[in-house]
Amino acid sequence: MSEEQKQADNRARPTTSEFRAFVAEDWAPSDGATPQQRASAPFAAARREALSAAHPGDRLIIPAGGLKVRSNDCDYVFRPHSAFVHMSGLGADTEPDSVLVLEPNEAGGHDATIYFRPLAPRDSEEFFGDARYGEYWVGARPTLEEMEADTGLTARHIDEFIDAALKDAGDTTIRLVRDADRELTTDLDARRTAAGAEAEGLEAADDELAHTLSTLRMVKDEWEIEQMQAAVDATKVGFEAVIDDLDDAVAAGRGERWVEGVFGLHARHQGNGVGYDSICAAGDHANTLHWIKNTGEIKDGDLILLDAGVEVDSLFTADITRTLPVSGTFSDTQREVYDAVHEAQQAGIDAVRPGAKFSDVHAAAIAVIAEKLHGWGLLPDGVSVEDTLDKEHGQYHRRWMVHGTSHHLGIDVHDCAMATREEYIDGELKPGMVLTVEPGLYFKASDLKVPERFRGIGVRIEDDVVVTEDGCRNLSEHMPRSSAEVEAWIAEVRAR
Ligand code: GLY
Ligand code: MN
Ligand code: MN
Repeated sequence: MSEEQKQADNRARPTTSEFRAFVAEDWAPSDGATPQQRASAPFAAARREALSAAHPGDRLIIPAGGLKVRSNDCDYVFRPHSAFVHMSGLGADTEPDSVLVLEPNEAGGHDATIYFRPLAPRDSEEFFGDARYGEYWVGARPTLEEMEADTGLTARHIDEFIDAALKDAGDTTIRLVRDADRELTTDLDARRTAAGAEAEGLEAADDELAHTLSTLRMVKDEWEIEQMQAAVDATKVGFEAVIDDLDDAVAAGRGERWVEGVFGLHARHQGNGVGYDSICAAGDHANTLHWIKNTGEIKDGDLILLDAGVEVDSLFTADITRTLPVSGTFSDTQREVYDAVHEAQQAGIDAVRPGAKFSDVHAAAIAVIAEKLHGWGLLPDGVSVEDTLDKEHGQYHRRWMVHGTSHHLGIDVHDCAMATREEYIDGELKPGMVLTVEPGLYFKASDLKVPERFRGIGVRIEDDVVVTEDGCRNLSEHMPRSSAEVEAWIAEVRAR
């Protein structure tokens, strides 16, 4: 036996057939209560109808994905693929290695089946012997009956999947969500090609499915908007816990990590966790747009930019930013920058209405940013606000706000990523769309083009809004935004 093999065996435990028989016996039956259908199920069914209508006659395969190794024999917490979540109605923890298949039927629609690993019986090898899937180690999975009751889908054992997926493969267009489970994709590519499909056409057919799935998420249904509101409400709790704990964060040292931990505690307590890594950026770190190292100190007198969102158990996430004065009060210069960003954000929010273009929101916000920068004399000599806003010849203002003002928000923080430019940036806003409005101004400590008093100040304000019939509703309206309201909020939370 090689040294490596000796090492690989280092945690093996002796088992005997007597022991195996012994662990398989005398377990009381599980409580066996059939679950109620989850509230998302009828909405997921309606989404599947829309997907079916977009791809008549095609077999549509939407994997959840499998467990992902974090290191050695430890996995990350499982999160199913977003398209699978949307089309199955399932959420946190459900269900590694499942695959949703929409099979074309004779009525011109599709029948939906979920293939998954149902709970293994207690006398199976898996129950006791499999540390990754076994009930003894990681808890019970649903049975086929429970999955059907929970989702309203037909449920089958995963062992039946390959035959179902490949049935009439030469004659049926099979479309697969490719990025959910890379191993499965490689396997199905080989099998589809062997069955006569053209290798070059596979990806194009699959990309069309990915595109449809992305665009079907642009307008949220009533249940999704409730989930978004729940995510925002949970996020408010996390922000208030951070505000309440800022003194401790300052005192503890490495305060950005403290803030990350406090927000993460509430995210994990109230939902599945954070919807993306929290940006906890004090002082000049706020000017590093994706500052997720969070290794810095927080000092009294600093601003702290907290960009964080709770992902609820249905896997919809909020995406909120507040920039808070650690002392409870903005300095004059901090307030000047903050108020400029707030004015830009309000202009952006005011531009959100049905019929407006998605890009109008950015145009409204960035016009204010450009005016402010011009007013401070930061644009090059002779460059007017109009000049800098010129897309071909200007854009000097982007030195201080390089990112867009908005993105779609939902199961993914940057939702609907496969929609085309025409549908997304140039698309019209419709009731039910959920977007962020998040302008900022970033004056790095090393930026010699700005007056010294601005250096090291970074501000972003980010809210989540839903387009309504006649404008928009700010889902995060209850989280104070103006500089005066933020100061009052900090004082109120600290006084609780
Ligand atoms: N938190 C990522 C973003 O605001 O887009
Ligand atoms: Mn955002
Ligand atoms: Mn954000």
